[in-house]
Amino acid sequence: MTSNQIFRILGGCAVSALFVAQLFQPARPGHALVKDGAGYPAVAPDERVAQLLKRSCGDCHSNDTVWPWYARISPMSWMIAGDVERGRRQLNLSTASILSDDQLGEIHDAIAFGNMPPKAYTFMHPEAKLTPAEAALLKQWALGELSAK
Ligand code: HEC
Repeated sequence: MTSNQIFRILGGCAVSALFVAQLFQPARPGHALVKDGAGYPAVAPDERVAQLLKRSCGDCHSNDTVWPWYARISPMSWMIAGDVERGRRQLNLSTASILSDDQLGEIHDAIAFGNMPPKAYTFMHPEAKLTPAEAALLKQWALGELSAK
């Protein structure tokens, strides 16, 4: 067998494996339960802050996830559903009515260190990127809520 034939067989196996992988899909729960950030004013009475949270954080930190078409393709579907599940567990802006001091501090730090929204996400969703002014507004809100308690 030539190396060319081996490559072709391996290539065929890889393609078949991808097809089979499509049969196994994660659940993608909670589509559009909350419309237009209806849940956000509870934590962020300032309309601008609520809109920013919805735009930059909502896909992973609310029940209002807009699943992109590539969230239907294995293995991306598992990575994306995992992000949303872990994101919601940490912070769910749809259901939270009060944010704890810990959560507010973490929100501030995640934005200050540029960890949130994650880079891999803003690569596909450039509209979710925060401008320096927007990041400053969110950090100010988080600190303001902290000291308001
Ligand atoms: C692509 C999905 C995604 C987006 C968008 C996103 N997050 Fe996250 N976030 C996650 C995941 C996943 C975790 C859990 C990380 C872990 O378990 O280590 C997380 C964790 C957090 C945490 C917990 C502390 C930490 O740093 O792990 C905070 C606070 C947070 N995110 C805030 C935000 C804020 C604020 C935004 C918007 C500016 C945002 N996130 C946008 C996916 C996302």
